[in-house]
Formats: sequence, C-alpha cells, structure tokens
Amino acid sequence: IPVQPFDYVVFGATGDLTKRKLIPALYHRFKDGQFDEQSRIIGASRSKLSSADFQQAARDAIAQFVEKDYQDEAVIERFIKIFSYVPVDATNPEGSGDLGKELRDDPKVVRAFYLAVAPDLFEPIAEYLLQKKLYRRDARVVIEKPLGHDLASSMEINDGVARIFKEDQVYRIDHYLGKETVQNLLALRFANTLFEPIWNSAHIDHVQLTVAESVGAGTRGYYDESGALRDMIQNHMLQLLCLVAMEPPASDDANALRDEKLKVLRALKPITNGEVAKNTVRGQYKGVKSETTSVAGYQDELPEDKKGSRTETFVALKAEVENWRWAGVPFYFRTGKRMAQRVSEICIQFKPIPHSIFDHAEGAPKANKLIIRLQPDEGVKLMMMIKDPGPGGMRLREVPLNLSFAQTFSERTPEAYERLLMDVIRGSQALFMRRDELEAAWNWVDPIRHAWDRSSDAPQSYVAGTWGPSGAIALIERDGRTWYEDDI
Ligand code: BG6
Repeated sequence: IPVQPFDYVVFGATGDLTKRKLIPALYHRFKDGQFDEQSRIIGASRSKLSSADFQQAARDAIAQFVEKDYQDEAVIERFIKIFSYVPVDATNPEGSGDLGKELRDDPKVVRAFYLAVAPDLFEPIAEYLLQKKLYRRDARVVIEKPLGHDLASSMEINDGVARIFKEDQVYRIDHYLGKETVQNLLALRFANTLFEPIWNSAHIDHVQLTVAESVGAGTRGYYDESGALRDMIQNHMLQLLCLVAMEPPASDDANALRDEKLKVLRALKPITNGEVAKNTVRGQYKGVKSETTSVAGYQDELPEDKKGSRTETFVALKAEVENWRWAGVPFYFRTGKRMAQRVSEICIQFKPIPHSIFDHAEGAPKANKLIIRLQPDEGVKLMMMIKDPGPGGMRLREVPLNLSFAQTFSERTPEAYERLLMDVIRGSQALFMRRDELEAAWNWVDPIRHAWDRSSDAPQSYVAGTWGPSGAIALIERDGRTWYEDDI
C-alpha cells in the first residue's frame, strides 16, 4: 500500500549510514511502488555539495549496495530525480543553504527529519529547525544509536531532543526491530494458539539468545568506546528478550506493545557487584596465524594509542526476568565478533517429558526446542522426537519440523530499514523504542559496566573464529546446560 507523499530530510547525507542503508532501503521501497515522484528526499550536511552531486552519490550508493538483480536503470533514473541537497551547518546557520525552500508547506505531505549524525548534533539540529520555522507539530524525527553510553548520557540526549520534539514525534531506531523474523516473533506468539499456553516457567526450562558475528570489530573508532555490552546487548538483544518474554499486549497499538516490553525490562533482576563476576563473561578475540589463515586480533587492529584496550568484543551473561511467568527460567545471552559463524537465533528450550515410557527404546527422548533463526536463513524450527522409520524396534530420533522462509516464500526479504523508514511516514511507532524503554535498558546494563570497569580482570581472550572464551561455556554448564549448536 503506497504511503502518503513525504519530504524526508536526511542530515548526515554524506555519511556511511545514508549510503549503505538509507538510500538502498528507500530505493527498494520506491521500486516496489510504495511511494513515487510526489515524494522528496533532501540531503543535508556540512559539505558544500550540489543537488547533482547528491544525485550522483545516490546513484553510486545503489550501484554499490543494492543487489545487482534489483538495479533497474529506468527506476534509478526516476528515483534519483526526487533527490536534492542543501548544505546545512546547524551550529553555524549563516553559512547554510535554504532548507525551507525544499520543503512543502502542505499538511498532507509528511515531514520527516532523519538525523544520521552524531548525537551531540541532535539538539543543535532540532534547535535549527525550530529557528528556521521548519518544525511542525506533526513532523517526525528519526534518531539512532549510539543514544548515549550510559543512563545519564542517554537522558541528556533525550532531553535535548525533547526540548523541541514531543515523544510521539520521536522515532528511535533499533534496526533489529525492523528485521522480518523479529517481527515474526509477534506473529508466532500471538497469531497462533499453540505456543502461548506453554510459554512460561511451567514448560520452558531456559531461553538462549545468540547474536554471533563472524566479522571483526574493524577499525571503527566507536567500537572501542562502546564494546559488545553497549553495542549489542543494551539495545538489540534486550529488545529480542522483550519480544520473547512480554505479556500479550491488548492490541497492536504502539504504546500497548511498548508498555509490555517496558515491563519486561523493569522486571529484569539487576546484576550488581558480586553477581557480575558470577553471571557475566566478557571476552576479546585474539588473532590466528596458520598456513591457511591469518586473522588479526582485536588488539592488532587498534591504533597505537588504544593498544592494551580492555574493551570486550564478546559477552555472555545469564539474566532473569522476575515475574510470575518467568520465575526460575534463565535467559542466557551470547554475542560476539569474530565468532565461528554469523548466526542470530533464539532457542526456547522446553522442559523434559515428566516420565518416559521408552525404557527399552534406542535413544532417550530429548526435550523439545523451538529455534527461531533471525539470520542467515530465516526460519523457525521445532525440534521433536519421532520414531525412526523401520521394523527394527523403537528407535527415537530428534528431527526438526522445519519452516524455512526462503523455501516457503519466493519474495526477497526486505532489509530492516525498508520497513522502519516507511513506518516513520505511516506514523507507526510500534517498532521504535520509547524513551522509557531505552532508559530501563541502560539502567540494567550500567551496573554491569561499572563492575567491569572497577574489576582488575581483563576480558578473557578467545581465538578468532571460535564460540568465545571458555568462561562462556562454563557459565551455562555450571547450570547443567549447554549452548545450542545447530548440527542438523
Ligand atoms: C550494529 C552494531 O548495531 O549492529 C554492529 O553497531 C553490528 O557492531 C550490527 O555489527 C549487527 O547488525 P546485523 O543486522 O548485521 O545483525
């Protein structure tokens, strides 16, 4: 369904996010007919570019970041015509172009500002928009992490934006919420009757959340300031936890949904002081050199002045949601760079059967597992016990009831930003983080960070290309459990 016509102003138009994610996402939506030439994309940044330069940059971004099969010259030609550019320096308005000239004063044209810039520019840009009378009460502002490095700095950023924009105008992106399979969690839980009655501590033994990446931290300066806890757990993984653990909302209304997610975050048992050493493990990858491979370690990639950094590139932790539904059900988190494989999945481990009648069978019944694979090869798999076919007596075997999205659907899976950018225009905040959610997440993460900072221990090292340090295995094995590994 086409969205209303819009004027999308992208601050930070020459940046990486714009090139890699925003332009390709908008291109796909345009190509699919979700909007047309009645809409405009206006780039803004400090660089003194012309509109023609920006159109060329858009063309280059498509050539580089859109899959070849989807690059359609005729569509690209039409698409880049809706691009224009205005040099804007919010901290030095004198030297700026006239952004107002590019915006239409028509309430039917949605006005959105995407701030793909460092957070210290959010407030100056918001202020600039107000001064230049470009702010409208129905305008939307899109912001994205890093939204602070702790609770205090996050509040400061939110306060800055809130001086101009009301909460119902603010769209805080967590791109994990735009992923198809993440949204599918909602469908799986709330569009089926099958799971909800057993989605609790009576039937679930524990839950594992894994976001493993095979890439390294690279040379992004930001990463060393952040580390895996802030980069992945505070936002993406806690959001996954919320969708798994929340109570059914009464409707799909954005606030109904976010109210329930917030309750999960608030029910998280704080991990503080002595609990930190017991329930968290941080790691840092070291390089490998052999005849066939050579992978640099985290330290090798750092500039001289950062060498010796104790930033974690891996975190495993055990969390607990203290409420009626989840009492006694641990949630094990695991995320890292340079791990054995790129895989994000959620494993719901059910309890074993209460009594086995298969004393004389070959193979013991294993407890059921539901595996929700976010990437790659999105899908849902229910691990079940069956009888191995054949006359040789009762042989029990674990097999997956497998729903692979790629095999079931022929359509391409849209990128997270495609959904999210259009939701901004639709005015749907359901897949965006509300301020109180963000702050509750920081509130939980901060004490872990503080304890690590105070500790004299360095992160445990792990060899690049493995599943993390031995401490992560010990963390779960101590409870008589093991990390799930897809071996079927
Ligand atoms: C980003 C992190 O938010 O998410 C990156 O800053 C990480 O460090 C990325 O690589 C992972 O996203 P995806 O979509 O590739 O799983």
